[in-house]
This record gives sequence, structure tokens and C-alpha cells, in this order.
Amino acid sequence: MSRRTISLKINGEDRRVEIEDNTLLLDMLRDRLGLKAARDGCSVGACGSCTVLLNGNPISSCLKLASTLPEGAEISTAEGLADGERLDPVQEAFLEEGAFQCAFCTSGMMLAVKALLAENSTPTDEEAKTYLNGHYCRCGSYPEILKAVRRLSGP
Ligand code: FES
Ligand code: FES
Repeated sequence: MSRRTISLKINGEDRRVEIEDNTLLLDMLRDRLGLKAARDGCSVGACGSCTVLLNGNPISSCLKLASTLPEGAEISTAEGLADGERLDPVQEAFLEEGAFQCAFCTSGMMLAVKALLAENSTPTDEEAKTYLNGHYCRCGSYPEILKAVRRLSGP
């Protein structure tokens, strides 16, 4: 297995990371960089809990080989949402609406909501549901997640 070092911007910080050809992005984040917010819920791209943003777009990090990332790619994880003590508006809205229980899905869900709102700042409930399709919440917090989206897109 060949090893190499790639340069990435992770949560706004330039990082060089050693990977093997078969290193998954999820494993690189969790095991090499200690960023544990993205979680492995299914390993097959079906649950959304491993979602991170690649150049602003949500992807399943359990399906992405780190070796296929372009040099300098920007990866955002939930660890990068808050600015020091100041929470991101998405985090505030999830807290205000109680949009989680066990929080296993929450990191991926918040990043997906952030990407949704970057694309469409005032999504209808149907648009939000369609966008978040594929993000599973085993605790069934969907109504509260939708309320958080409404809070973020409301007047
Ligand atoms: S762990 Fe990647 S989609 Fe479920
Ligand atoms: S809050 Fe438990 S899986 Fe979503």
C-alpha cells in the first residue's frame, strides 16, 4: 500500500496529512486528525451521520477515499462550526429547538442544513425534507430539525 501526504484545508486550517491509497476520509478525520464529530453509522453511504462538507458540498466521508481529494480541498466538519465560544447559528437553532436526542446524527445533520441554507436561504418544509433525505435520525427528531431549519430561514 503506497503512502503519501496530501495538503488540505480543514476547518479553515492548512493541514498536511499522511494517508494510504485506501484511507477513507472518515477514518482520516477520526483516526489521524482526532476529529470525531463525523460518525460511522452505516459505512455504506446510507445514513448521513458521516457527512462533511467538501468545498461547501455535503458528502458521505465513509465513501470517499482521501487519496481522491484534490490538493488544497476544503473540508468542513462540525468541529469547525463554532467560532471559539460563539456557536454557529445552526448550532444555536438546533439547541433552541431541541433538535436532537442522542446526537449521533447531529453533526452530519447540521452540516447538511448549513449547505441547504447556503443554496436556498428560505427553503419550504418540502424542500428541506427533500434536501435532508438520506440523513437518518434514529431518535426521530425530524419535527424539531425542521423547526430549526424554519428558525434559520424565518424573518
Ligand atoms: S456512515 Fe456514511 S452514510 Fe452512513
Ligand atoms: S438525535 Fe439520535 S440519531 Fe438523531
